[in-house]
Amino acid sequence: MNSLHFMGTGLYIPPKVVTNDDLSKIVDTSDEWIYPRTGIKRRHINEGLTNSEMAARACKQALENSHVNPDELCCLIMATFSPDTFSPANACTVLHMLDLPEHILSFDINGACAGFLMALTVARGILAQCPGKKALVVASEFCSDFTDWTDRSTCVLFGDGAAAAVISLDNFSPFYFTGGTGKGDEAIQVKASPRAGDDFHVIRMTGSKVFRFAVTVLQQAITELLGRAGLTADDVDHIICHQANFRIIKHVYEKMGIDPAKFYINIEEYGNTSGASSAIALAEMNEKGLLKRGDKIMMICFGAGLVYEGILFEW
Ligand code: ACO
Repeated sequence: MNSLHFMGTGLYIPPKVVTNDDLSKIVDTSDEWIYPRTGIKRRHINEGLTNSEMAARACKQALENSHVNPDELCCLIMATFSPDTFSPANACTVLHMLDLPEHILSFDINGACAGFLMALTVARGILAQCPGKKALVVASEFCSDFTDWTDRSTCVLFGDGAAAAVISLDNFSPFYFTGGTGKGDEAIQVKASPRAGDDFHVIRMTGSKVFRFAVTVLQQAITELLGRAGLTADDVDHIICHQANFRIIKHVYEKMGIDPAKFYINIEEYGNTSGASSAIALAEMNEKGLLKRGDKIMMICFGAGLVYEGILFEW
């Protein structure tokens, strides 16, 4: 019990679109290489806004859609690996940008691509201590600011964007969680300081290692969540995986024999938006009217660390 009730969601997708063909003009790559290997056709790239400004736009929309008075909020949590500042936390910047009340505890979570799920889980814990209150959770990533645009093995993968949700506790439906940290912290790195060595401030990734980790933990998390809930995959209405590579998701549904139609996939349009990817997928599904009250939703994300988290709840 003590699940999450999503009262409203918000999205900010940067208007600038960069296609695979556009990228083939700046690095030695092609749509023929990128699309079949990743499922990515386009990505949206932020120009002119800070990460906090993208996050604030998504939060504003989520607040409007939820019809929640900001006085009712107890916390604002921002998931990001690509902040404008290490300190203050970007959630504090967003709070001030939106002129939200001072009683709201605001802080960031760096859970890489699993950050949104971690933020939801932590918000759930805080809400349990604040009866009747709501939480504002946002995942916002400015991946392009941390991209080496000369490295074809990473620059074709990532995109920017933000999504937010206003949540409250739902005391009547169940919530299931799983997560962990596997070996391989060197597989995805973004060095924050020149003291950590070369390649400071850019994403470096050994893609094949992350691929193997991802297909293993996605299957493990799905099996664990279904086992805890006493459900089969057929009972679940929607599965939202971190949108890193279409082939990762395809591998999982083929291996597990799960109906592909249950998986929401939007990687073709956005690329990998790291911590924002599952948040954007959920907000987009909500905006499109694809989610019905009582639908069982499974969300599973993985990323730098190497971490993974999965949650199962009812909409
Ligand atoms: N265009 C053309 N050729 C390329 C490109 C490109 N954009 N990128 C790499 N290549 C070349 C490589 O140089 C290599 O050439 P070589 O054989 O001559 O050396 C060849 O293509 C194969 O490269 P691989 O890296 O082995 O390609 P792979 O099939 O593994 O696909 C990919 C790479 C798409 C990155 C895949 O491994 C993947 O998706 N991994 C998972 C990534 C992920 O899930 N990340 C999530 C976390 S991100 C985060 O937390 C911030």
